[in-house]
Amino acid sequence: MFLPALYAATLLALYPSSALGQYLLGVGIGDVTGPVTETNMMGYADLSQTDTGLHMRQRSRAYIVAEAANATNRFLLINSDIAMGDSGVRRAIVAKLSALYPGVYDDNNIGLVGTHQHAGVGGYLENLLPQLTSLGFVRETFDAIVTGSVKAAVDAHNSLAAGSLSFGTTDILQGNINRSPSAYLANPAEERAKYAYDQDKTMTLIKFTGSSGDRGFLSFFPVHGTSLYQNNTLVSTDNKGMAAYLYENYAEPNTAPGKTSFVAGFVQANVGDTSPNTLGAFCQSPGKPYDGQPCEFYQSTCGGVTQECHGRGPGFRVSDFESNYLIGSYQFEGAKTIMESNSLKSLNGSVRAAHIYVDMSTYTFKGADGQTKRTCKPAMGYAFAGGTTDGPGAFDFKQGTTSGNPFWDIVKGFVTPQPSADQVACHAPKPILLNTGEATQPYDWQPKIVNVQLFRVGQMVILLVPGEFTTMAGRRLREAVKAKLVANPSIMGTDVTVVIAGPSNTYGHYVTTKEEYGVQRYEGGSTIYGPNTLDAYINIYGDMLGYISDAPRAPPSQAGAPPDLTKNPLSLRTGVVLDNVPIGSSFGKVLTAPSGSYSKGSTVTVKFQGATPRNNLRLEETFLTIDRQVNGQWQTYRTDSHPSTKYNWKRTNGALGYSEVTITWDIERDAPSGTYRITYYGDYKNGWTGKISAFTGQTGSFTVS
Ligand SMILES: *[C@@H]1O[C@H](CO)[C@@H](O)[C@H](O)[C@H]1NC(C)=O
Ligand SMILES: *[C@@H]1O[C@H](CO)[C@@H](O)[C@H](O)[C@H]1NC(C)=O
Ligand SMILES: *[C@@H]1O[C@H](CO)[C@@H](O)[C@H](O)[C@H]1NC(C)=O
Repeated sequence: MFLPALYAATLLALYPSSALGQYLLGVGIGDVTGPVTETNMMGYADLSQTDTGLHMRQRSRAYIVAEAANATNRFLLINSDIAMGDSGVRRAIVAKLSALYPGVYDDNNIGLVGTHQHAGVGGYLENLLPQLTSLGFVRETFDAIVTGSVKAAVDAHNSLAAGSLSFGTTDILQGNINRSPSAYLANPAEERAKYAYDQDKTMTLIKFTGSSGDRGFLSFFPVHGTSLYQNNTLVSTDNKGMAAYLYENYAEPNTAPGKTSFVAGFVQANVGDTSPNTLGAFCQSPGKPYDGQPCEFYQSTCGGVTQECHGRGPGFRVSDFESNYLIGSYQFEGAKTIMESNSLKSLNGSVRAAHIYVDMSTYTFKGADGQTKRTCKPAMGYAFAGGTTDGPGAFDFKQGTTSGNPFWDIVKGFVTPQPSADQVACHAPKPILLNTGEATQPYDWQPKIVNVQLFRVGQMVILLVPGEFTTMAGRRLREAVKAKLVANPSIMGTDVTVVIAGPSNTYGHYVTTKEEYGVQRYEGGSTIYGPNTLDAYINIYGDMLGYISDAPRAPPSQAGAPPDLTKNPLSLRTGVVLDNVPIGSSFGKVLTAPSGSYSKGSTVTVKFQGATPRNNLRLEETFLTIDRQVNGQWQTYRTDSHPSTKYNWKRTNGALGYSEVTITWDIERDAPSGTYRITYYGDYKNGWTGKISAFTGQTGSFTVS
């Protein structure tokens, strides 16, 4: 009797309120980088933004939380360095994981959140509209995301061990601004008066602690992944992936990116009207009187046109890569502040997951005024074509884009039908530009059915939302969910924290408040299910709260899933024909050698006879290493995923299949002095046999001092 009591008292002293062992926790990471050349990039949906190389690899990071006492109750959250979750990608991930672990992971408890970065590889979404600029569906991208996400999840599963969770918050004031402040101002003054900012500045973080220390975290903070501009063509992760790199490198400085056991989760939140271009939006109009002036406030124009209005990040004077680093580092610092705080609150209590499919094209509900409200079949407004100050936003329907786009040439035969009178009335006051919801040829342009999902652990509720909620839309959703939970304390008591994670699972575009919708900025023009979209979601999430109650309850029905559009998609992007080298050259031959010596802070640039990296994505590997000589042995010092290296590929003769690879290394100021060399890893395709063969190129050595 005495000994166990003493033991328990000791444990309590060591873990005052954290009850180590209350949860089983798992974390994992996987490479999801699709083809880094000759593929349209995802986010800005700009036809000319075709990738030409790699800055940092895209990763999925997986987190499993299960009750130790009853591990049936668990969730798996996959935070992926992609622009948005997608129903097709999620379907494939769920199919693989539910086959690997029958009865453990399923539609109900697997969630896929995109970091909403705009510098990743495109072509993976299953609906038609986002495929327009990528010449259709790109199977290689889709497969890379599925493979890497499943790998992350399997690693997380295999790492399940007893642990505790705690959480805290901090404000990150420099991390974002509102890019549609005129729309925000349409919200009622009394409502705005409740908040200090027109953006959510608070990061909320859940810390994962195991028996031998911290294992990672999930943080939630809203800021668009548009630090890297639309004219960048190197595949990267934007600011959330940068923050994750900075944290994982801080936790394990001697481990290559993507190989750490500590997994840092920077999850996107109510991102809709946020921008990382925190200096504001200015006219880039050389020679005109308004050059360098702030853009017009209501329409973000310069001399009446949108094209010259550009947001500027904090590193604007240097480059967008500098801005990306800075916005990433602010989030990294915020996460560190919370992780290293000693006033975190422990999470304790049930783990729950609930997921349903909802047809948002025909949803009806009773509004606060007692009237029946409905949502509409998807449609995009005129404002959507205007884009945003972060870049001429979405799918580029400006005149002239039909030429040079064979995919659009096919699709234009199916251009969206005239909206019916009912459709026009349903979306009012939004004028319809693209009547996507009544266009079903060659297949659905935008989703009608979305995934609605929520996870709970202890006092924390995570709402996985299928779209980009604006700041105020997200606040209304969180507050409504919290108010309903507090009013029904039998569900989970009254100590409740609600966070948003999105865009998750399906890309249902934007969600504004009804007042913002009335103003029809870009976000309102892209709120595809009409003016009642937000109130419908508030109603739907509210109806699901019973599923996260402490009292066990069977999960909701998984009926009504959307059709699989990935089986027979349009895909016009051509495969690799062949790689070849000019007479007298060879694959991997050094074309530009390093000069003999470099100082820290300078850049090394070398060039090789190359081959297209599409032949082998080298997932979990690298296209290059910076090697450092240590005691006569070569060791890998940097890989293609370190932010200091860049891999650029260029086709120099399309008909004959020649290409060149340029590798740059911005030598870190704290790099050890010594002898280095650069190795290039490639794979070429033989045009006769189709056989793909690996090769390496290697420079001579050079010194850094
Ligand atoms: C990319 O766009 C930004 C913003 O418009 C501009 O400042 C920069 O010069 C452009 N970079 C290149 C390489 O064209
Ligand atoms: C549960 O969490 C709350 C809030 O952090 C804390 O006050 C309480 O002591 C915890 N309870 C247990 C049993 O750990
Ligand atoms: C574990 O949880 C599941 C799902 O909530 C429930 O059906 C089952 O009865 C629980 N098992 C035990 C032993 O409590």
